[in-house]
Amino acid sequence: MGFRVFCCGFSFASFVVLLHSAVLILLLLVHHKASAASQCDFFTGRWVPDKTYPLYHPAVCPFIEREFSCQKNGRPDLDYTQYRWQPLGCYLLRFNGQDFMERLRGKRIMFVGDSLSRNQWQSLTCMLHSALPNAKYNLTRQQDVSTFSFPDYGVEIMLDRNVYLVDVVREEIGRVLKLDSIEGGKVWKGMDMLIFNTWHWWNRRGPSQPWDYIQEGTKISKDMDRMLAFQKALATWARWVDLNIDPNKTLVFFQGISPSHYNGSQWNEPSAKNCVGQKEPLFGSIYPGGLPPAVGVLKSELRKVTKPVKLLDITNLSLLRKDGHPSLYGLARMDCSHWCLAGVPDTWNQILYNLIL
Ligand SMILES: *[C@@H]1O[C@H](CO)[C@@H](O)[C@H](O)[C@H]1NC(C)=O
Ligand SMILES: *[C@@H]1O[C@H](CO)[C@@H](O)[C@H](O)[C@H]1NC(C)=O
Ligand SMILES: *[C@@H]1O[C@H](CO)[C@@H](O)[C@H](O)[C@H]1NC(C)=O
Ligand SMILES: *[C@@H]1O[C@H](CO)[C@@H](O)[C@H](O)[C@H]1NC(C)=O
Repeated sequence: MGFRVFCCGFSFASFVVLLHSAVLILLLLVHHKASAASQCDFFTGRWVPDKTYPLYHPAVCPFIEREFSCQKNGRPDLDYTQYRWQPLGCYLLRFNGQDFMERLRGKRIMFVGDSLSRNQWQSLTCMLHSALPNAKYNLTRQQDVSTFSFPDYGVEIMLDRNVYLVDVVREEIGRVLKLDSIEGGKVWKGMDMLIFNTWHWWNRRGPSQPWDYIQEGTKISKDMDRMLAFQKALATWARWVDLNIDPNKTLVFFQGISPSHYNGSQWNEPSAKNCVGQKEPLFGSIYPGGLPPAVGVLKSELRKVTKPVKLLDITNLSLLRKDGHPSLYGLARMDCSHWCLAGVPDTWNQILYNLIL
C-alpha cells in the first residue's frame, strides 16, 4: 500500500485498522445494550412446533394428580405437548433440572395460591423429578401446606393452598372474607422464593363461594364489587410484602392471571362454547379477545409495592393455548381453566428458571 496520509504519517492500513476498531467498539456497545436488555421480554412471543418437547412424558411423573393427568384420563392427542414458547426478541434457555437444583441447593420455594398454583407446583416437581430420576424425593402434607422435598439437595418445593391470600375467618355470623387481614402470611416467612397467585376464586358465587360475608375495615356486607374486592386484597398483600420481605433473602414473584377458554368468540371461533376438541394453539402473538380485566388491576397493584416483585406475566402466552386445558379429560365436567401436565405450566417454570439465572 504505502499510501501515506499527508499530515499525520498514518498509513491507509492503520486507518483501516482504526475504522475496524471503531466498528468493533460500536458492535460491542450495541451488544452490551442487547444484553442489558437480556432482562429481555420473555412474555411477548409465539408458540412454535418443537418435537423435542415435552420436557417429560406424563407417565414418568408418578405423582401428577388426576386433575391434570389428561393422558391418563383418556386424552388421545399429544400434539399440545410439542410446542415451545419463542419470545420475539431473545431466546429462552431450555430448562435444565440439574442446574436448577444446584442453584437451589439448601433452599425453600413456596407457591401460594389456588389450584393454578398447584398446577405450576406439580409441573415444577415433574420437571425436576424427570431430570433427576434417581434423586430421592418425599411428598408430605401438613394442613394447607404440601411439601415436595429432594433430601439429597436440601431443596423443598412447597405449596400453600390459600385461594384469596387474605383471610377467611369463621365468626358467629358466618364465614367472613377479610380484605384487610392476612394472618395466613405467617407460613410464608423465611422462604427463599415465593410465587403468589390469586384470582379465580374471586368470581365464585353460590354454593362454591366459601364465605358468607365480606369485610373491609369495620364494614361488613353480604357482597361487593368483586373486582374491587380483588384489588383491595392485593393492596393488603402488597403491604404484607413491604413489611415482611427481606429482598436480600427472598425472591418474590407473582404468577399472573392464568386465563380460561370458555368462549370461542374470543379466538374467532364463535361456534366453540369451550375448549373441547382444540388441538392447536393460536399462532402469532395476538389473542383476538384481548386481556382479562383482572390483569390491569393486578399490574396497577404491583406497581405500588416498594420491594422488588417480579410478575410472571403468563397471561398472553397462555391465552394463545386454547388447546392446553384438560377439557373432558380432567376432574370437572368441562375444565378449560386448569392445564394438562405435561403442558403450558412447564413453560411458566421455564421462564421462572430463565429469570433467576
Ligand atoms: C398482551 O396482549 C395485550 C393485548 O392483547 C397487549 O397490549 C400487551 O402488550 C401484551 N403483553 C405482552 C407481554 O405481550
Ligand atoms: C418424609 O418426610 C417426613 C416428614 O418430614 C419424614 O417423617 C419422613 O421420614 C420422610 N421420609 C423420607 C423417606 O425421607
Ligand atoms: C441487603 O444487603 C446489602 C448489601 O449487603 C445491604 O447494604 C443492605 O442493607 C441489605 N438490606 C437489608 C434490607 O437487609
Ligand atoms: C363471548 O365473547 C363475545 C365477544 O367478546 C361476547 O360478545 C359474548 O357475550 C361472550 N359470550 C359469553 C357467553 O360470555
